Amino acid sequence: MVGQWGKEDEEKVVIRFYNDRKDRVEMERVEKSCEIGNDQTFLFTHTLGDPICRIRNTPLFTMLVAEVRNKLVGSIQGSVKPVKFQDKSVTVGYVLALRVMPSYRRHGIGSILVTKLEEWFMSHNADYAYMATQKDNEASLGLFVGTLGYVIFRNPAILVNPVNPRGLKLPSDIEIRKLKVKEAASWYRKHVVSKTDFFPDDIVKILRNKLNIGTWVAYYKNKDTIKSWAILSAWNSSKVFKLRIGKAPLSYVFLTKVCKFFGRFLPFLGLTALPDLFTPFGFYFIYGVHAEGPLRGKLVRALCEHVSNMAASDDGGACKVVVVEVDGESNGSSNDSVRRCVPHWKMLSCEDDTWCIKPLKREENTTGLSDFTEMLLSSKSRSLFVDPRDV
Ligand SMILES: CC(C)(COP(=O)(O)OP(=O)(O)OC[C@H]1O[C@@H](n2cnc3c(N)ncnc32)[C@H](O)[C@@H]1OP(=O)(O)O)[C@@H](O)C(=O)NCCC(=O)NCCS
Repeated sequence: MVGQWGKEDEEKVVIRFYNDRKDRVEMERVEKSCEIGNDQTFLFTHTLGDPICRIRNTPLFTMLVAEVRNKLVGSIQGSVKPVKFQDKSVTVGYVLALRVMPSYRRHGIGSILVTKLEEWFMSHNADYAYMATQKDNEASLGLFVGTLGYVIFRNPAILVNPVNPRGLKLPSDIEIRKLKVKEAASWYRKHVVSKTDFFPDDIVKILRNKLNIGTWVAYYKNKDTIKSWAILSAWNSSKVFKLRIGKAPLSYVFLTKVCKFFGRFLPFLGLTALPDLFTPFGFYFIYGVHAEGPLRGKLVRALCEHVSNMAASDDGGACKVVVVEVDGESNGSSNDSVRRCVPHWKMLSCEDDTWCIKPLKREENTTGLSDFTEMLLSSKSRSLFVDPRDV
């Protein structure tokens, strides 16, 4: 695959599949240069030496690299999977980890990489391509929405909560039960599929994956009078990659310093020290959060705290935070939405992740982009099922 990147200098860019044996070391250089050059990035990813670790758990994936004069200057990753979207079974391609080295930017390399990945998606019968970025990533939105015809369709929140190493006491009126894989899959199919978009058709594969920790339901012990319940699953992302804070908000830096100073007095005050998030740390990812009934909020909170307690005792304390990605005011009224009930620290969370989508095939009954945008608007009442393999 060959394209042209320099408008004046006629330099050729070669797009080819990533070769793990040949490209691994050079890829690290590309990743590092993008880390330094990106002003918006707040949380950095540590791939533990494996550039494609983030997509390895999806059924079908690839990575493309861009080469100029035999030097790697950019890369992109993608995965393909079957999901339920708008009540239909469709195939979607997920675009992630697009990188172009700073000195090669604004020459069309990013666009060529995305276009070539879309071609790969289409060769695997994908109906849509989608991606997620931060709302202040101007380059990314300029490229996908401004140039390549993607449409912003959701703004879920990434909620981050530090793990309390001493554990949290759960409410005594709530029962938490772990579900077996088959039970969890049928619970999701019965109660969640029709209310969400992007529900993975291969949910059983996710639930059976070695990174999956489990699925739990919570309900009130006095279930005859209070008909509320909540469900969620947890995934151990720290076995795949680690995170590190690059640019902490000033409030966090300040709090870290204060806590360090008063460190030995904190237990007496009933407080815990802030976790060190400046060195690489692991995290648990919570997904499939769904709740019903008038008192569901407390159940969601209890389930999140239950997962946090497991993270605290796992892997010698390597897991420092629990992360949940939830959609707007999904499955609840604005007063009691899942987003409000999930425990999180505002200063570590991202309230407005931006998901963009593009149809790759023209549907028979869809005549143009305006129909597509209208269809997306009509789906806003559903929540988003965030696949842990996309994180
Ligand atoms: C985003 C990124 C991959 C773009 O790569 P690129 O090779 O510069 O992109 P292109 O040259 O193909 O840009 C195509 C169009 O996108 C838009 N665009 C690209 N960079 C932009 C920027 N910094 N600000 C605004 N629009 C931008 C422009 O419309 C541009 O067309 P133009 O140059 O004719 O004006 C690159 O900036 C990058 O690696 N950033 C850091 C990593 C990152 O944020 N990745 C995205 C994660 S989803």
